[in-house]
Formats: sequence, C-alpha cells, structure tokens
Amino acid sequence: MTREAVFQRYPKSGDNLISILHDLQNQNEWNYLSKEDLQAAADYLELPYSFVHGVVTFYTMFSLKPRGRHVIRVCQSPPCQLMGASTVGDELKKLLGVDFGQTSSDQMFTLEMTSCLGVCGVAPAMMVDGDVYGNLTPQRVEEIISEKRRAS
Ligand code: FES
Repeated sequence: MTREAVFQRYPKSGDNLISILHDLQNQNEWNYLSKEDLQAAADYLELPYSFVHGVVTFYTMFSLKPRGRHVIRVCQSPPCQLMGASTVGDELKKLLGVDFGQTSSDQMFTLEMTSCLGVCGVAPAMMVDGDVYGNLTPQRVEEIISEKRRAS
C-alpha cells in the first residue's frame, strides 16, 4: 500500500495520527517509520513535524530505525515475569543470536521487550507482529520461530 492509499483511508483529523502512523509502519517491509513517512503524515494532517516526531518517540511500538521482517515483543510485566518471561527471553536470544533491541543477522527478527499485553491469564506471553502467544515454554517458542522461518 502506498502512503497515499493510507491517507485516503482517514479523514484529515489529528485524531487519526496514531492510526495513520500504524498503517505507514505496517506497510513498510522493515517495520519502521522513515523521516519521509513522518513528514508526509505531518503534511497530510497539517501538524508540525516536531509534534509527529514526538508522538512516534513516545510510543514504543513505533520505530525510527529499520527492524526485522518480524517484530517479537516479550512481555516483561510482573505476572509474566513470575511465570517465566526471562526463560522465554533467554530462549529467544539463543535461537536468534541477538539481545533485546537487536535484529537477527538474517534480518528476519527483531527482539523487543514490552509491558503487559493484556493476556496475563496465559502468562508468559509475547506478540509476534500482530499475533499474541501465551502459555509459552522454551519448546513452544522454538516451534513458533520455526513456523515463522518456514513461512518466510
Ligand atoms: S503481564 Fe504479561 S500479558 Fe499481562
């Protein structure tokens, strides 16, 4: 989808800024927002560039740097921590050869931390792109990564 196609989906209202930024990021193969994206959103909504930039840097779900094709966010809030989030994180680091905040050498995965995903009843949990996975074990994490690799 082009930027113009994203803008056509939303009326010119500042209320739509977050949704527009989400769509622009999602349509980018590398899961990030470029300066050109921010400028285009600012121009379309007639907002100052600095305001749009401030919104992007406030929310951790937005990135100003290219990321992997898949973005993995591991919940680090207390209920998930109690149920083994650190084991999940360690398994992911081992499988992908990265630390949190990094992208795998094949550019397939970026590993990030997040706060509560709203599914504490199935802790520990993570989100891969838009999909939430719960009741994670090291074995289940390995299966999910293998599925994503096969699908790519
Ligand atoms: S604490 Fe992890 S999903 Fe709520």
